Amino acid sequence: MGKRAKTDPEGGMKAILKLPDGKIELPILVGSENERAIDITQLRSETGYITYDNGYGNTGSCRSEITYIDGEQGILRYRGYPIEELAEKSRFVEVAWLLISGELPTKPQLQSFSELLTRNAALHEGLRHHFEGFPPDAHPMAMLSAMINACSCYHPELLEMEDESHVLEGSAKLLSKVRTIAAFSYRKSIGRPIIHPHPKLSYTRNFLHMMFSQPFELYEAPDVVDRALTLLLTLHADHEQNCSTSTVRMVGSSGANLFASTAAGVCALWGPLHGGANLAVVNMLRKINESGIPLKEFIEKVKTDPNLRLMGFGHRVYKNYDPRAQILKKTADRLLNELGIQNPLLNIAKEIEGMVLEDDYFIERKLFPNVDFYSGIILSALNIPANMFTVIFAIGRMPGWIANWYEQFCQKAKIVRPRQIYTGYATRHYIPLDQR
Ligand code: ACO
Repeated sequence: MGKRAKTDPEGGMKAILKLPDGKIELPILVGSENERAIDITQLRSETGYITYDNGYGNTGSCRSEITYIDGEQGILRYRGYPIEELAEKSRFVEVAWLLISGELPTKPQLQSFSELLTRNAALHEGLRHHFEGFPPDAHPMAMLSAMINACSCYHPELLEMEDESHVLEGSAKLLSKVRTIAAFSYRKSIGRPIIHPHPKLSYTRNFLHMMFSQPFELYEAPDVVDRALTLLLTLHADHEQNCSTSTVRMVGSSGANLFASTAAGVCALWGPLHGGANLAVVNMLRKINESGIPLKEFIEKVKTDPNLRLMGFGHRVYKNYDPRAQILKKTADRLLNELGIQNPLLNIAKEIEGMVLEDDYFIERKLFPNVDFYSGIILSALNIPANMFTVIFAIGRMPGWIANWYEQFCQKAKIVRPRQIYTGYATRHYIPLDQR
């Protein structure tokens, strides 16, 4: 796992910050795509000031060589490779290696990594019994997070990463087991027996087998289904410092192990403003379909009701069409066509998109479809139940979380500890209970 990329090509540049009681010169850092940042690491110690950036929209929390996004132009690249090329030519396992190791794998590397994934697909018997402790209606995201964390109890040898081979082994275990845990959670939630992984199947086919096979009745995924799921996982594999990845890095910065850190990532992803949005989109489209509300009226409501959002639209970084949404829109069309599925939700989604892209409210705020707008429709076509949508996102995002955790580990990054602007009471004194 080598080092690439330059940083600070114009390392001499400085910004001057004028303060009410003085000024300070701050170094300017320049990334390999000319993104500029003001380095404020000495600001507090030299001036007493901190910066305030609610939601971190202007804060670079790390230096990273993994993923590049240009939100204004709608560009996404993993390790320099455009997402469009990877989506068309690559497979998820290859992309996982690319993200974690930094380079596309050679044939022998890909083969041995795939074998490592196959060897590590099964869960320890002790771990399997943990599923019995969950209620039948437990949410699969809760089970996923809990079970990933529990994995650390069964693989203590991976709690201290020593070298690259150790990291690759831990990565393979996690990537492989997360798929088994997800499928077992689903089987548990529908009261069906678990289906063990099949050593002859590819990554995605094996997952679909564990989800949908019955005892003595093997589910063989059609090629179109396998391709669509592989694409979906590939498109979700990383997205630089989003909420869940930042969570993984933050937890990892305390020295927490890979399992604990990625389990926290699953929890962050669960929220409807993040990975949970794919489910929220489908629920929204279903409600529109069932209620028969005219789309124009629905869009007006979204614009005026502060508690309502057009789910699957808008993004903190993309102020243009999310390139993943563009790919998924075409995939949704092709998939439904090949499977002969008529899904009214796809037509509603496309109609909404057409209308809002010409609406001033959305134009002014630069709100475009994000990755979640079409992914739920694709997952429904693959027969993935709604409560598993965000779980699939988590399986896809795992390589990115691992890559970020590992990068930070190699950088020997400092523990993450933001400051705050305290807005509470100044000192006050304790009042005994009987005097309050
Ligand atoms: N529908 C309607 N209005 C919206 C939407 C939306 N989906 N998103 C943003 N806006 C409006 C806000 O109301 C706000 O308007 P105002 O300036 O009049 O107050 C303005 O656009 C800016 O919105 P913020 O919330 O400040 O934007 P932020 O960058 O913080 O939020 C987010 C980004 C959370 C993704 C937001 O666009 C949203 O809630 N989208 C819907 C949920 C969603 O699809 N999430 C998935 C994101 S992709 C991912 O995580 C994988």
